[in-house]
Amino acid sequence: MHCPALPEGFDLTDPDLLHHRVPLPEFAQLRQSEPVRWIPQPHGLAGFDDDGYWAVTRHADVRYVSTHPEIFSSWLNTAIIRFGAHIERDAIDAQRLILLNMDPPEHTRVRQILQRGFTPRAIRALEERLRNRAGAIVEAVRHRSDPFDFVTEVACELPLQAIAELIGVPQEDRAKIFEWSNRMIAYDDPEYAITEEVGAESATEIIAYAMNMAAERKRCPAHDIVSTLVAAEGEGNLSYDEFGFFVLMLAVAGNETTRNAITHGMHAFLTHPDQWELYVRERPSTAAEEIVRWATPVNSFQRTATQDTELGGARIRKGDRVGLFYASANHDPEVFERPDEFDVTRDPNPHLGFGGGGPHYCLGKSLAVLEIDLIFHAIADAMPGLKAAGDPRRLRSAWINGVKELRVSVG
Ligand code: HEM
Repeated sequence: MHCPALPEGFDLTDPDLLHHRVPLPEFAQLRQSEPVRWIPQPHGLAGFDDDGYWAVTRHADVRYVSTHPEIFSSWLNTAIIRFGAHIERDAIDAQRLILLNMDPPEHTRVRQILQRGFTPRAIRALEERLRNRAGAIVEAVRHRSDPFDFVTEVACELPLQAIAELIGVPQEDRAKIFEWSNRMIAYDDPEYAITEEVGAESATEIIAYAMNMAAERKRCPAHDIVSTLVAAEGEGNLSYDEFGFFVLMLAVAGNETTRNAITHGMHAFLTHPDQWELYVRERPSTAAEEIVRWATPVNSFQRTATQDTELGGARIRKGDRVGLFYASANHDPEVFERPDEFDVTRDPNPHLGFGGGGPHYCLGKSLAVLEIDLIFHAIADAMPGLKAAGDPRRLRSAWINGVKELRVSVG
C-alpha cells in the first residue's frame, strides 16, 4: 500500500503544514491508503542517529500503541521532534524525570502517588472556587463595548488558576507562576520571540519554586496536595525533584491544552450558531468532550519501539519512532459518524484528545472537562449573544493545535 499523493518532503512535524489546515486533508488520505506510514526526515535530528518516524493515523492503531507500553516505550521522548532540531543529551535526561516520559514500573509508582491529587473528591473540592473564577472572568468582559481578544481576556486565566488551586500556590505568587508558565512553552512561532534559553530559565524557576514549596510543606504540613504528596518519607511519596518536575509538567500539560480547548470551543460555537443555541438552551453535558475531539489541542505524541513488530501492515524495527496523530484518529470515520461535524450532543464519543487510553491517559482530564463546562456555562449565562469580530489567528506549531488570538464582541 502506498499513498502516492503526498508531496516530496512531506513531514507532519513541519509547523507550516498544520498552520492553517486542521484537520489536515492528508490525514484522511493516510488513514485510507497507508495508515502507518514511514515519514523520512532527510535533515535528520541533530545529535541523534535518526532518519524519520512512523505516522500512525487510524483510531484503532493509536489506541493499540498507547495501550502497549511494553512494545512502544515513552522513555526516549514523547514529543515528536521537528526536522533539523538540535536536542541536547542533557535535555533528554532531564525529560526522563517527567511522568509523560516514564515507562512502567517507574511510571506506575509515580502515577499512583500523583493520582491522589486528582481523585473525584479532590476535583469536586475545587469546583466551587473555579465556578466563581469562571464567573468573575466573564463578568470582567460582559459589558465591554469594543471587540476584545477572547484568548487573553477569557481562555487564559482559568487553566492557570485551576493548576494554582490544585497545588495550593498562594495568591501573591500566582502572577509570577503564570508568567513563567506562559513563557516556558518554546513556540515555533516567531511572533512570540521566546528563545529556548528564556523557556529553559522559566522551567528552572518553576522547578525551584515547587521544590521550595515542597520543602516548606514537609516542615509545616497543610491540608493540600503538596503536603499529601511529599509529607512523609518513603516509597509512597515524591522526592523534591519529582515534585518539581511534576509541577513543571502541569504548567505545560494543563495550561495551554485547556486554554486552546476553550478558545477552539468558542470558535466552534461562533461558527456553528445552531450548536450554540442548543448549548445555551439545554447545556448538554456531552459538550466538553466534543469540544476536545473537535479541537484536539494536542495533535500528537510519540513512542519508540522496544522490539521489531507489525502495525497496520507496516514492519516496525526496534528503535523506530512512532508518532500518534490524535488529530487524525479523532476524525476517523471507522469510529465516528459524521466525523467532520461539530455536534455537542455526540454520545458515545470515544475520542483520543486526552490520549489513546493506556497508562499515560491524561491525568487532568476531569479537571479539564470541569473547566470547559464552567467557562461555557458562565458565557452562556452572561453573554449568550457573543459574536466573532475577526478570524482566529492560529499558533505556528505542529504539536499544539493552538489559537493566539480570537477577537469577539458582546452582541
Ligand atoms: C497527559 C491532553 C488537560 C495533566 C496528556 C496526554 C494528552 C493530554 C494527549 C498524553 C496521553 C498519552 O500519552 O496517552 C490534554 C488535553 C487537555 C489536558 C487535550 C485539555 C483539554 C490537562 C490538565 C492537566 C493535565 C488540566 C492537569 C492539571 C496531564 C498529565 C499527563 C497528561 C499529568 C501525563 C500523564 C502520564 O504520563 O501518566 N494530556 N490534557 N492535562 N495530562 Fe493532559
